[in-house]
Amino acid sequence: MIPPFFMLTNKKILIGVSGSIAAYKIAVLVRLLVKEGAIVKVIMTPASTAFVTPLTLSTLSKNEVLHSLATDSSWANHVLLGRWADVMLIAPLSCNTLAKMAHGLCDNLLTAVYLSATCKVLVAPAMDEDMWHHATTKENIEKIKSFGNLVLPVHHGELASGLRGEGRMAEPEEMITYLQNYFQQHTTLAGKQIVITAGPTYEPIDPVRFIGNHSSGKMGIALAEECKNRGATVLLIHGPIKQQIPVGMHSISVQTAQQMYDACMKVFENTDIFIMAAAVADYAVAEISETKIKKKEDELILTLHKTPDILKQLGAIKKKEQLLVGFALETDHEKENAIKKLKLKNADYMILNSMRDKGAGFGYDSNKITIFDKAENCFEFALKSKKEVAADIVNTITQKGHV
Ligand code: C5P
Repeated sequence: MIPPFFMLTNKKILIGVSGSIAAYKIAVLVRLLVKEGAIVKVIMTPASTAFVTPLTLSTLSKNEVLHSLATDSSWANHVLLGRWADVMLIAPLSCNTLAKMAHGLCDNLLTAVYLSATCKVLVAPAMDEDMWHHATTKENIEKIKSFGNLVLPVHHGELASGLRGEGRMAEPEEMITYLQNYFQQHTTLAGKQIVITAGPTYEPIDPVRFIGNHSSGKMGIALAEECKNRGATVLLIHGPIKQQIPVGMHSISVQTAQQMYDACMKVFENTDIFIMAAAVADYAVAEISETKIKKKEDELILTLHKTPDILKQLGAIKKKEQLLVGFALETDHEKENAIKKLKLKNADYMILNSMRDKGAGFGYDSNKITIFDKAENCFEFALKSKKEVAADIVNTITQKGHV
């Protein structure tokens, strides 16, 4: 693992400065980042230029500092700036810019870049204590956290008003440590190719009907996002789902088990980690009617045939260095069934969900899992959000250092 003090070398860091007296500290932050080998660009809100000059920050960052959406002759490409950065750090984050972020307002370059940023956004709030404790501020902070932004803690101490209290911006040295830790955590899977399947498959009966299941794809998407956030190249192969595919990953949309099988087989050879989180249909209709089946007899008999077992097939051809992970959704004899599947399909890990656990499985935003490895070690986890469960899974399957 790369030691944290090298973590910022060549990292592209976009600093957004908003209007607060703490803006003067950004000069030190930019200087430290450049010393650490980071490539730094700075954008400013118009109000912030009264606290620290663009000239100071452009000299220190060695890059032009932009503070308006357009000049007389040119337009600042906010979309490209947001895509350029590995991380955007908004520091200081004023109450006003926080409120704009929480509500999607976009009346200056900084907020436009924030809205188009595809990278992680970190913020370092800075405000007087009464503003920090205001109900709107609290609500806005929670709101921007729920959008996936990371909020650095504020400190207690002397404030611009002369009062003492909470609301001081994190010190530049602290922000550097935070960024180093962030990059260390988010590069553990750099260079890895990871494929994750998600959602149900639909097996057609006729042009209007199908056999499907209640899988939402949420668990697979949470896993894909977790792997992407740790620096992996992620391909999501998904059945019919309503969930939005997160930005920054490749995806292939399929309908049937056979199509999912074909898509998986095509990419498996070049995959380091393969996670089968999809709820693949075990049976498909043998003969799909070309026309809508009419209501006639009291009984309609459909002949089903077995679909290819993708996980089992991948287990049969997998190389030693490839990691294969399956899911077992069980209603009874959970542990025995999960271990049986792990062995039968030659997977390295099997993630068990039990339909008997409240709040776990299809459609929920939470899940409760137990992970089994080949040696039948068993790692049990509490009921958590699918995002946290995804982190537990990725931590467990990568802990032996075999990827
Ligand atoms: O045997 P069972 O369907 O319970 O196994 C579940 C695991 O196998 C899951 O990882 C699922 O994605 C995978 N599977 C598969 N192909 C199928 C059925 C299930 O890869 N046809």
